[in-house]
Amino acid sequence: MQLLDGKKCADSLIAEIGKRVAGYVEGGLRKPHMTVILVGEHAPSESYVKSKITTSGLSGFESNLIRLPETIRESELLAKIRDVNDDPTTDGLIVQLPLPKHINSQNIINAIDPAKDIDGFHPANFGRMTLGQKAFRPATAYGICKLLQFYNIPIKGKHCVVIGRSNIVGKPISIMLSNDFDIGNATVTLTHIETPRELLLDETRRADIVIVAVGIPGFVTPDMVKEGVVLIDVGINRLESGKIVGDVAFDAVAPKCSWITPVPGGVGRMTVAALMINTLNAYQNNFNLA
Ligand code: GUN
Repeated sequence: MQLLDGKKCADSLIAEIGKRVAGYVEGGLRKPHMTVILVGEHAPSESYVKSKITTSGLSGFESNLIRLPETIRESELLAKIRDVNDDPTTDGLIVQLPLPKHINSQNIINAIDPAKDIDGFHPANFGRMTLGQKAFRPATAYGICKLLQFYNIPIKGKHCVVIGRSNIVGKPISIMLSNDFDIGNATVTLTHIETPRELLLDETRRADIVIVAVGIPGFVTPDMVKEGVVLIDVGINRLESGKIVGDVAFDAVAPKCSWITPVPGGVGRMTVAALMINTLNAYQNNFNLA
């Protein structure tokens, strides 16, 4: 069993981005700029946003965090997004999810300028990605692809089973890995909460690659996977003890895997690294750079 080290891979990608940015700045351009909007106080979001801001600094970017109160009206949040859309000094905009219940998240995502949508959640980007066109790819899914690529894990022709159909992870990764992309061409099964248990087991037990994003600690157990599986754990669950664990019963399942992601230090790091790639691309598009 070997670890898919998200920190090592992310550090290498970020160093590469930093070098690119340094070159642009030496050439007289301004730095790339990422804006993050955080509504209300949600402990996990605070921690994700902190990591995004810190990593953007390490990538050589400027960033700013706009904090808005939990009670903000949807119309006020939409106005804020329009301000950022219209600001030529910012290249990428993230609205951290989840939003308070009185706000319709899809309305918010739809209001982001697709050219600044570094999360890749706007229907224009999601649609283009699905059609195999150039687009910002959703960051967690893209991060998983980059991690598999970094470790030269074969994907083309492999049988990949995704557990969980969220718009943020399960749905986009299943589309991306099945598309004719540079990192793709797998045969993918997307399973979800309505998949009967027996069918789920039939699929996961013959999968070459299993990707789980359900938010349930210990969901994947050793009896669910074959010997030599590549296991990608997207879960970030905080136990009552304060310990962070994934969706895989790691100690029991890891010995059966050829490769497995740790939690923390796996996919989480890659999500942030992929966001930095998207931000750099947004900036390059703005300045017509290659
Ligand atoms: N909340 C959990 N994951 C994500 C993500 O990838 N992007 C945003 N904006 N919010 C999230």
